Amino acid sequence: MRVVSGIQPTGKPHLGNYLGAIVNYVKLQDEAHAAGGECFIFLADLHALSQPHDPAELTKNTREMVATLVACGVDPSKTILFNQAQVPAHAELQWLLNGTARMGWLNRMTQWKDKAGKNREGQSVALFTYPVLQAADVLLYQATHVPVGEDQKQHLELARDIAQKFNNDFCSEDAPLFTLPEPYIPPAAARIMSLRDGTAKMSKSDPSDMSRISLTDDPDTVMKKVKKAKTDPEPLPSEEKGLEDRAEAKNLVGIYAALTGKSTADVLAEHGGQGFGAFKPALGEVLVETLRPINARFMELKDDQEALDAILARGAAQAREHGLPTLNAAYKALGLVRG
Ligand code: TYM
Repeated sequence: MRVVSGIQPTGKPHLGNYLGAIVNYVKLQDEAHAAGGECFIFLADLHALSQPHDPAELTKNTREMVATLVACGVDPSKTILFNQAQVPAHAELQWLLNGTARMGWLNRMTQWKDKAGKNREGQSVALFTYPVLQAADVLLYQATHVPVGEDQKQHLELARDIAQKFNNDFCSEDAPLFTLPEPYIPPAAARIMSLRDGTAKMSKSDPSDMSRISLTDDPDTVMKKVKKAKTDPEPLPSEEKGLEDRAEAKNLVGIYAALTGKSTADVLAEHGGQGFGAFKPALGEVLVETLRPINARFMELKDDQEALDAILARGAAQAREHGLPTLNAAYKALGLVRG
């Protein structure tokens, strides 16, 4: 069992990152550890170069993201926790895979289409080739399980296509180089939506801070954001069918279910008939209680730059070692001569 996943250290991590991905980093880290496998979680700082960025902010956000992940339960004694920039094999393998990835495949990526919009010509090359780096990230470690939210599913399908084509083109049938990675997507929290618009994904890049719960928000802020969340005037239904066409209500019920580990049906059985005036405070409470220990741990860790850098340095050394055999095999398969 090889668990591999990444998160961009841009902005503050939010509830969507937590429920869609981080909760499963911790779950799969423990499963991999128990099964004698490995777990690699990295900060995708190279991916962050695909958008305009402030270098000082990137450095600060990288350290804060390490503190947040550890505060959420990613345990550096069980997980190889590092940033891409300290493991050059990610960028090297990306270049090797650039020969296999097709322009047409990248052109079809919805994230590219959404982010580039009408201004494709003005985008960085990095934004376009971003999914090839993502493929390199997981293929380098022969990932089997990749915990991600729904929005990354297409990128992982591309990683599988690249792996398959490389194996077909450059390896013998009985000795393929790359393992095909499987996405691991939580059913209840695959896509947490904005608190201001139930049709838009909760996102670090949304200009409105009220659209998302940051993992480091204090209890008052959390309560305020939940109370101000957009809803409709109807009470909650008693059955799931009643959530159809009610994007905001569905999102809040989904968040409640994911946080408490209950099914949507159970949440509606308990809260059906309630108006949002009653449901929102209940949701706010659950959120505050979930975030309380994360916040406390984050505050302890966040200013210890030396300790955070040491975690990354140690993880990077381990990652470099684990990635080397696959990187070397890729060079060899392609016929590249190296002394
Ligand atoms: P990023 O940094 O945008 O998000 C990190 C993780 O959080 C998930 N996520 C969500 N899940 C549910 N609801 C949401 N609203 C929501 N918003 C974000 C994402 O799906 C992701 O799992 N390209 C990736 C980083 C990456 C990566 C990789 C991931 C680079 N290389 C290799 C997996 C494997 C990204 O930008 O995630």
